[in-house]
Amino acid sequence: MAETNLQVLLRRRPKGAPVPEDFEIVETPVPVPAEGEVLVRHQYLSLDPYMRGRMSEAKSYAKPVALGSVMEGRTAGVVVASKAPGFAPGDSVAGGFGWQRFSCVTPAGLIKVDPQEAPLSANLGVLGMPGLTAWVGLEDIGQPKAGETVVVSAASGAVGQVVGQIAKIRGCKVIGIAGGPEKCRFVEEELGFDACIDHRGDLNAQLDKACPEGIDVYWENVGGPVQAAVFPRLRDFARMVMCGVIAQYNVVEGADSFGGPPGPYLGAVVRKRLRIQGFIVSDHGWPRYPQFRREMLGWMADGRMSWREDVVEGLRNAPEAFIGLLQGRNFGKLVVKID
Ligand SMILES: NC(=O)c1ccc[n+]([C@@H]2O[C@H](COP(=O)([O-])OP(=O)(O)OC[C@H]3O[C@@H](n4cnc5c(N)ncnc54)[C@H](OP(=O)(O)O)[C@@H]3O)[C@@H](O)[C@H]2O)c1
Repeated sequence: MAETNLQVLLRRRPKGAPVPEDFEIVETPVPVPAEGEVLVRHQYLSLDPYMRGRMSEAKSYAKPVALGSVMEGRTAGVVVASKAPGFAPGDSVAGGFGWQRFSCVTPAGLIKVDPQEAPLSANLGVLGMPGLTAWVGLEDIGQPKAGETVVVSAASGAVGQVVGQIAKIRGCKVIGIAGGPEKCRFVEEELGFDACIDHRGDLNAQLDKACPEGIDVYWENVGGPVQAAVFPRLRDFARMVMCGVIAQYNVVEGADSFGGPPGPYLGAVVRKRLRIQGFIVSDHGWPRYPQFRREMLGWMADGRMSWREDVVEGLRNAPEAFIGLLQGRNFGKLVVKID
């Protein structure tokens, strides 16, 4: 039987948490590369929280996915046919080519990766956009110094695991926050954080115990009640790296379940001379990707950087896996093995 392409489309915009009916899975013919294009068979798809934003029409830093179009996402795969100079069948490549098995792409935005350096899927996590986010956000905004206390939320996830390990390499005391004892054990024992707090327990008591001297850098991945517990513990001159607020991504547009005036927060920003900065990796990161990759490969080779992936089998299971990501069901960087 002839091979087909498999694609996951955005059927409708979610109201609150996405449901399987928001997606549509279709089989289409395998595309044929035009002159200057490469046909790639994608083997892994990265599932990331930002995709919830692309499903929405709310104003943001990037355009929404159009209804009926292939969901956006980064992939890693192998070239099967090439009509573009510099690429040959068998080359391993990564790029942003969406929730699909095959696509024809131009070399712009296609990164050639060496499968001898790391497993292909690592190019979507520790060596990909989430790893770059952690590296650039700490370097540019968090700026942790040896001896400082760094707190990282969603610590067992794609970004959090890298943030905490880089902060350890920089000589900091690192406290993770994660959901459940299994994730906390992993963060302490496998990633080497000094401690990990379970956000399902009494956050205030656990933070008092883990950070009696306060917090110098807070890496924000979740927002909501975790942020509310961390914020009063920031020390003078602390930095808050606003990477994401996943706990708020399913809030229905226009509503604000964690609302209320930010006044008390902003008063403390002055009194404590805090720096709170949001950032998007694409503004800072990609021009520095070669430098990041070199440094990260070095840490991976000398054993100072561990990483955990949560691999879901089959592109048809991507919608369910993505829905789970927004509920904390993933354990490590979530990737889909496409076939
Ligand atoms: N600014 C940028 O350029 C940029 C780039 C990449 C990612 N990000 C952001 O970074 C954050 C982490 O992304 P990631 O790819 O590393 O995801 P991830 O941590 O691998 O997965 C998401 C994790 O978030 C936690 N979570 C989900 N819902 C939650 C809730 N209601 N309350 C508390 N925790 C919740 C869960 O961990 P627990 O079970 O441990 O709670 C879940 O496993 C996200 O906010 C994402 O949008 C930003």
